[in-house]
Amino acid sequence: MPEHTSEQHSAGLSENMREDTRALMRGLDVLSGPFPDFDPDTAPDHPAQLFVAWFMNAVDTKVVEPHAMTLSTVTPDGRPEARVLILKSVDAAGWRFAISKASSKGREIAQNPHVALTFHWREVGRQVRISGVACEESAADGSADFLARSRGSREMALLLRQSQVLEEPQQIDRELEAVRRKLAEDPDLVPPEWTSYVVKADKVEFWQADGGRRHTRVLYTRADETAAWSRCRLWP
Ligand SMILES: Cc1cc2nc3c(=O)[nH]c(=O)nc-3n(C[C@H](O)[C@H](O)[C@H](O)COP(=O)(O)O)c2cc1C
Repeated sequence: MPEHTSEQHSAGLSENMREDTRALMRGLDVLSGPFPDFDPDTAPDHPAQLFVAWFMNAVDTKVVEPHAMTLSTVTPDGRPEARVLILKSVDAAGWRFAISKASSKGREIAQNPHVALTFHWREVGRQVRISGVACEESAADGSADFLARSRGSREMALLLRQSQVLEEPQQIDRELEAVRRKLAEDPDLVPPEWTSYVVKADKVEFWQADGGRRHTRVLYTRADETAAWSRCRLWP
């Protein structure tokens, strides 16, 4: 990629960009509803139950990609990192996702397992924020997840190259060819790095938008994974 100085970059930007973008962004609608009802007094004792109820509602109301979530991790030097991933399942034990341990996020979790998951279901004005510890599940759980993935996803994951610098795009085709040969010999090949994690939460917040900005927030907390959950409401 060609190198540019910061002056060259700035010269390429419109002087009015800040004003233009501000005007554009101010003119966009946000939290305009209509939104579903949420009565915090009827919230269940366990946040996973409420999560599943909201998730089912998101599926029923055709929220786009309701299982897409932002996974936030922390680097060894204390910088937050965040990216979108797909949620695989949830139950009383926690929220599950599967990734390669060799990826940046996998290495970050190995150093510091504290993570956050954030869901935004725009069409129903809902956000769920989950905070806890990502725990590795068994190798069998990791393999089961991997073998259930699409062929393309497995091929790409077997390269073990995610987030490395790509010097030239043709490299992908060359390396994929080698992986396809390996998969032809062993269709059930699973990279040992592929890992399923369950996020054992100690904090889960449910946020329901209100068109008049009187949003409803319910926070579940517990001291540790053996303790019972307690919940309270938060100011909007
Ligand atoms: C909707 C959506 C779904 C994604 N699903 C996955 C996924 O299941 N697994 C994955 O490794 N990356 C997924 N990504 C890409 C990640 O956001 C990220 O770019 C990638 O995992 C590299 O992250 P890292 O460099 O922090 O390890 C998805 C991105 C989007 C927008």
